[in-house]
Amino acid sequence: MSLFRPNIDAMDAYKPGEQPPAGARVIKLNTNENPYPPSPKVAEAIEAELKAGAAPGERLRLYSDPMGTELRKAASEATGFPVEQILHGNGSDELLAMLLRAFVDPGEAVAYPYPTYVLYETLAHAQGAKIRTFDFPRDFALPEGLFGCGAKLVFVASPNSPSGTVYPAGQLAELADSLKRGILVVDEAYVEFADANALELARAKPNVVVTRTFSKSHSLAGMRLGLLYAPAPLVAGLVKVKDSYNLDRLSIVAGAAALRDPAWTKANVERVRATRARLARALADLGLEVLPSQSNFLFARLPGARAAERAAGAYRFLKEHGILIRYFPARLLDDGIRVSVGTEAEVDAFLERLKEYLARG
Ligand SMILES: Cc1ncc(COP(=O)(O)O)c(C=O)c1O
Repeated sequence: MSLFRPNIDAMDAYKPGEQPPAGARVIKLNTNENPYPPSPKVAEAIEAELKAGAAPGERLRLYSDPMGTELRKAASEATGFPVEQILHGNGSDELLAMLLRAFVDPGEAVAYPYPTYVLYETLAHAQGAKIRTFDFPRDFALPEGLFGCGAKLVFVASPNSPSGTVYPAGQLAELADSLKRGILVVDEAYVEFADANALELARAKPNVVVTRTFSKSHSLAGMRLGLLYAPAPLVAGLVKVKDSYNLDRLSIVAGAAALRDPAWTKANVERVRATRARLARALADLGLEVLPSQSNFLFARLPGARAAERAAGAYRFLKEHGILIRYFPARLLDDGIRVSVGTEAEVDAFLERLKEYLARG
């Protein structure tokens, strides 16, 4: 007999993309990390924190700042949002979990389009929420059904994963207005790679929350850092469900340093965007249908009646040759592959192997 709540027994665990051991000789294009290193200011800030005090690491004796003030101040300087409208998280994943805990009673509805970031489903199940999904059309336009759907919490990833589609702020504002007693969460994990964002909605609307991460544009997936922007009363309520010391001392100084070096982030984002354009052209030349992406990855469908079989085969072939990409054996996704934009050399190696695989027919 299980001691778990029935919804925990019934749900599947979230399956993160493969993380090979550090130092493994693989080209890792499967979890949308940044291929370039973080700002050198980040390591300097971590070193300074470790060296401060009477002995190395002395400050680690003490708990970290529960309110991550230094990080939130840096975010405020970067965006013009007051500190009271900003909350820090152990990755944006923690912030998404806090939103479920704070706003959704078991049995209440959580809605999102399909296919999207799989963690929304995991979190909703863990909370015992009712899940309502609305299929994206083939071009990944926002599904009509989401508007006025009556859910307590609606998630929209913009840019969406795995499609890379970005949704205009005007359309998201309409969606927020249609929700009445519901909250719209705009997950902007990839937004720095896009031409537009919806951050202003977190200032203009009482029911919009925008989440962002340091894992992609700031090259800090390993630090586990995220930020949330929302009206001050929502932030004040969310603080109640937060782990007291959710960020450690090193993460707080690292995140602040990254935000205070916007030129570094911008340069890496520009490089990724340029490589993205080249990769998209090359995949289209190979006969794949490439979704226009505003993110640091591309989703490309294989052509022909055997598309699903060939997409799965491409994933396996590339893996055998030390190149990790993402294949989703799921409805509406199983005919394609998702590939993160790597360095120029990584992308060349990927394209060469993919060409070799496709030539086999
Ligand atoms: C859409 C989306 N949101 C959030 C995240 C999680 O980001 P973090 O590393 O900040 O937890 C990811 C990670 O891949 C993502 O794809």
